[in-house]
Amino acid sequence: MGILPELKHRFRNALAGFTNAPEELLDQVRRTQDARFGDYQANFAMPLGKQLGRPPREVAAEVVARLDVADMCHRPEIAGPGFINLRLREQWLSERLIEAVCDPRLGVSVEAQPRTIVIDYSAPNVAKPMHVGHIRSTVIGDALCRILRFLGHRVISDNHIGDWGTQFGMIIYGYKHFLDAEAFAQAPIRELSRLYRLVRRLMDYQGAERDEQDGIEDSAQDDRLGELSAQHPNINARVLHETAKLHAGDAENVALWRKFMPICLREIDRIYARLGVSFDYTLGESYYNDRLPGLVEELIRRGIARESEGATAIFFDHPKTPMLIRKQDGAFLYATTDLATLQYRMETFRPDTILYVVDHRQSLHFEQLFAAARLMGYTGVELKHVRFGAVLGEDGKPFRTRQGDTVELEALLDEAVARALQIVSANDDQKPDGPELSPEARRRIAEIVGMGAIKYADLSQNRESDYVFSFDKMLAMNGNTATYMQYAYARVQSIFAKGGVDVEHLRRCPGPISLEAAAERALAVELLRFSEALELAAADYRPNHLTAYLFELANRYSTFFEQCPVLRAETPQLRQSRLLLCDLTARTIRKGLELLGIDVVDRM
Ligand code: ARG
Repeated sequence: MGILPELKHRFRNALAGFTNAPEELLDQVRRTQDARFGDYQANFAMPLGKQLGRPPREVAAEVVARLDVADMCHRPEIAGPGFINLRLREQWLSERLIEAVCDPRLGVSVEAQPRTIVIDYSAPNVAKPMHVGHIRSTVIGDALCRILRFLGHRVISDNHIGDWGTQFGMIIYGYKHFLDAEAFAQAPIRELSRLYRLVRRLMDYQGAERDEQDGIEDSAQDDRLGELSAQHPNINARVLHETAKLHAGDAENVALWRKFMPICLREIDRIYARLGVSFDYTLGESYYNDRLPGLVEELIRRGIARESEGATAIFFDHPKTPMLIRKQDGAFLYATTDLATLQYRMETFRPDTILYVVDHRQSLHFEQLFAAARLMGYTGVELKHVRFGAVLGEDGKPFRTRQGDTVELEALLDEAVARALQIVSANDDQKPDGPELSPEARRRIAEIVGMGAIKYADLSQNRESDYVFSFDKMLAMNGNTATYMQYAYARVQSIFAKGGVDVEHLRRCPGPISLEAAAERALAVELLRFSEALELAAADYRPNHLTAYLFELANRYSTFFEQCPVLRAETPQLRQSRLLLCDLTARTIRKGLELLGIDVVDRM
């Protein structure tokens, strides 16, 4: 058990008799910001004093008199208006550290009341290349899966891919009219993306033409587009027609869709393999197609949806905007599919929670979806839009290529790895005894460092904010980056290699851990906060609590390493004790990074 749950447990006992609603007060038991006041503090004496109509200091003194922490803390101190300051005993810390050393879970306990949690994330619209916008959902969703699973929850990951929308109408149209058969035979996905882009450009072109009849630039490319556009007027309607035919089961279009799908899936799977991301299910939009008509009828029958101007919609008090579920022409929408998906998940997985890791621009959609779910009677389930902001370029605008196109995800991964390779190589070249790494090893390490940098940069943000994508910042050797953490890990491994340390043996016979030096003690307290950080990350689905923790841990390790000789410690016992601190730090960093989907390397 972590420090904080243990302290809360003790305070809960002490508070019995003062209040029968202690939980809110217990939220006021926290880590101390300023080390001079100890390690943890309880700040509830003020609100409690108010409740009881008594001076807070007096109340604090009485709580402390009933508080049983003698084994765990030095004598509690009451400060100012009634803050209770706690300083953990070194003996107690040392014992907990030894427990963590001997525990594959590093002292993190398994959730006593596990929940069943469905996580809906990544969910690209296939048939077009994945772009930078997909990184956030994929990386945040994957980290949440790993963290929640490690804490003991039953996690079901489901990639709700867009495999049924207009983009298929677009490539079907493109395939029928613009196919380069040879190119398709050679590299199908590239040809499909070309077709997708071409049709996209035509749609945009005609959209622009309608918007501003006279304002179109006449570049050479637009000339060609203009010509094509003249041959394919009303392309929007034609594309919609192809999509509608697909949805209605038209044999030719369904056959094309069947031909395209494996190609599209192979493409996204390749990227997932590189990112180390996998899913329990990939039930895309198409999976629910057959259920849509019945669902709409059911909702009408139950009085949840009604017809309005030929269309069908669900109306709410809040949000004010109704949710359209069937258009006048009979077509179903994204929202209809999401309702069918929700129903399916509730019946199949019986979840306690469903998380939707999706862009904040879809906030209204999810408000509507959740309101509709309540009307359908799904009241016991926690439905949560785990939303996130945009990825910006260094100019503060949405991240684009110099030509103004969206940045393809793969190109981004390649560039991160190329830059990581430069850094790893330069670092290796500067080693005092000359380079240690083969070109092959450098490449392998660069892949891990590059992926880690991109993921960590994303995960370390408050997910609701936009963030600026910067290769230089994310690959910095110093600062809140994966590179810094990976480097700290590798440094420990190199100490072990240099000292010829047998880690297995070290872990099997952990001697007492000495916490006399301030830097040792500070590191120890942080090591024991791992479960606290994970709980915090899980509480509101925010992986940045875990990155913040790892950064603090790595910093404290760095101070410890500067101030406390390890291999050359004064006594064999002290050397052993410090090696244990090093090892536990490395294991905690490795586990923490693993829960973020990031690997480590022994040398870099
Ligand atoms: N494919 C959608 C998009 O790209 C995201 C789907 C998110 N999940 C969901 N159940 N709506 O916008």
